[in-house]
Amino acid sequence: MNRKAISLALAALGLASVSVAAIAAKPADTIAARQANFKLIGKSFKTIIDQMKAPAADMALVQSSADALAKASTKVHGLFPKGSGPESGVKTHALPAVWEKPADFKAAADKLVLGTKAMQKAAKSGDMAQVKAAFPGVGGACKGCHDQFKGKD
Ligand code: HEC
Repeated sequence: MNRKAISLALAALGLASVSVAAIAAKPADTIAARQANFKLIGKSFKTIIDQMKAPAADMALVQSSADALAKASTKVHGLFPKGSGPESGVKTHALPAVWEKPADFKAAADKLVLGTKAMQKAAKSGDMAQVKAAFPGVGGACKGCHDQFKGKD
């Protein structure tokens, strides 16, 4: 059964409010997986930034990091199922706004996917000038989402 079929089956049972993701994984597991994904995103992005500053950039490293960054970015939106916010009782920096403004949150996540795809393309070109040109599109996506949806430490 796919997710939609499961949702329909649950709705038929009067369990529409039970999210599929909540059944598939406990909030603690989901939150750990999304934090690990963000750690990978942070590490990959930092590697690219370090190479942007290096006198002789390792373009193979920039490429592999940009690939990892783009791939992990496509997973972000799916790692915020209902029930995985602060109300779960698990420590998370995700603000309730993620679930209160789902369209804005989706737009912020989509921006990251677009920005990191452009970065991946730039890295593949092997031209550091293109990587530098793609940088604000990624950095802006991180900041744009964190400002609205991520609490401070
Ligand atoms: C669509 C929203 C969104 C985007 C885009 C986004 N983040 Fe985040 N980020 C979050 C949220 C929300 C959290 C808190 C997650 C939690 O604690 O459950 C987070 C957490 C993190 C963390 C901490 C992970 C941990 O728990 O150790 C890092 C590092 C991070 N983000 C880096 C980045 C970088 C770098 C980018 C851009 C390349 C980025 N994020 C883009 C929303 C976003």
